[in-house]
Amino acid sequence: MKITVPKIIGLKNSRVISMMTAYDYPSSKAISDAEIDIILVGDSLAQVVLGYDDTLSVTVDEMLHHVKAVTRANPNSLVVADMPYMSYHISEEETIKNAARFIQEGKADAVKIEGGKKRENMIKALINAEIPVMGHLGLTPQSKNVMGGYKIQGKTLELAKELLEDAILLDSLGCFSFVLEGVPKVVAQTITEQVSIPTIGIGAGVHVDGQVLVYHDLLGMKSKEYIDAKFVKRYDNQYDKVVETMKNFKKEEWKKEVKKILS
Ligand code: KIV
Repeated sequence: MKITVPKIIGLKNSRVISMMTAYDYPSSKAISDAEIDIILVGDSLAQVVLGYDDTLSVTVDEMLHHVKAVTRANPNSLVVADMPYMSYHISEEETIKNAARFIQEGKADAVKIEGGKKRENMIKALINAEIPVMGHLGLTPQSKNVMGGYKIQGKTLELAKELLEDAILLDSLGCFSFVLEGVPKVVAQTITEQVSIPTIGIGAGVHVDGQVLVYHDLLGMKSKEYIDAKFVKRYDNQYDKVVETMKNFKKEEWKKEVKKILS
């Protein structure tokens, strides 16, 4: 059965919510078959699939191409489209137009945007336009230049308080959940206890309402030179298996048969 936004809200204090990124049709099918609650077409697409250095480079058109592939698989999981950098920063009108493309053309169920107070007007505008919004607080990769890199956020009491204020704001604005990325676990726990909507953690400890991971990280699909964040748990090592399988293909018996025929 299709997972809806009200269903996700209702899961708080009931069971752990699972969220996984997907960027294409086959991964969307597999994630849905595994009964994962939410598929995030994350802007991590930029690095994981498109080979960019950071998430700042990916555009609405590129994201939309992948959102469409994910929703074509007709997953039961709720599909959340990540709004890329600069698609929700300029004006409320542009924010709604860009988000509407993900909903109308991409057939996504909701959008995700990074930030709290700074994005208050944009979040309000989206919710007024009947577009469900997932927030994203803490280590927000689109702010990497301001943060001076990918650093754990909310480490002092003052910064933790600011994070809590942002979390309470997202709740009051009507977001249906938010991602908490790269924050100390005690901060994530406090925030989770103080808000009425589900928190989905990544690098935020276990005292959150759900967990999200990047598909390629979970499956170990990246080559060795790619260094995962400390909190990433690899459940498999598919990159090595793929390389091995390719080698097996290369030395396959049929090649010898062809040689025999040709000689
Ligand atoms: O883009 C992404 O993959 C994300 C998750 C890590 C939350 O935003």
